[in-house]
Amino acid sequence: MATLAIIGGTGLTSLKDLHLTRREVMHTPYGEPSAPLVFGEMCGKELLFLPRHGAGHTIPPHKINYRANLWALKESGVEKVIAVNAVGAIRADMTPGKLVVPDQIIDYTWSRTNTFFEEGLNHVTHIDFTEPYSAALRKVLIDTATDNGIEVIGEGTYAATQGPRLETTAEINKLERDGCDLVGMTGMPEAALARELELDYVCLAVVANMGAGRGEPTITMAMIEHYLGEGMARARQLLEQVVPRLV
Ligand code: HPA
Repeated sequence: MATLAIIGGTGLTSLKDLHLTRREVMHTPYGEPSAPLVFGEMCGKELLFLPRHGAGHTIPPHKINYRANLWALKESGVEKVIAVNAVGAIRADMTPGKLVVPDQIIDYTWSRTNTFFEEGLNHVTHIDFTEPYSAALRKVLIDTATDNGIEVIGEGTYAATQGPRLETTAEINKLERDGCDLVGMTGMPEAALARELELDYVCLAVVANMGAGRGEPTITMAMIEHYLGEGMARARQLLEQVVPRLV
């Protein structure tokens, strides 16, 4: 049974170092996950991979069935989740291609189903979300990066925006005033749903571009893909070293 899962984001729809053992189409009380779950081995350790946007990268951030994805992982016996997310940078030192392990989130998304606790309840439930990411998993990612000479920024506040459009310059300025360092469209409600299911969850953010108004005059998909290629290569390198420490 795989106890570790990697959720891949834009730029990581497959893991080439994962030796595939089986795929499983899952059905959950909340519908179908983004793709069949991929079970395999990396560095001799069993793990599970799920591409958040679907196997062919066709599901936009606001249409992802986050509940089905997390439920399917929990049902499969997963305890720890590394969520890989492409992001735009607000902080100047988070240049394209860099890796960030954020420690906080501000949620700006709307009209996404964001809880398992809404029907058939015996008690109203409020999860603690003071620290939205697992401190233990963050430490493993940061320590592994340091030990292997892989550059990673070990803190930051992730702004989860609705998308699918990118932000305006004024929105990025507002996010900065709010204290956000990086911006992405898929961080929530995924992190909160993971907490509701008592999964240990961490985000490995890969900077694809400077946020609107901070870098190039316009942000193109070609630019995003270029830098994501570079950043994801670094993320894969880190994942290869992290997996044996977590399984
Ligand atoms: N904004 C929001 N989400 C993103 C960005 C961005 O600039 N880049 C990659 N995902």
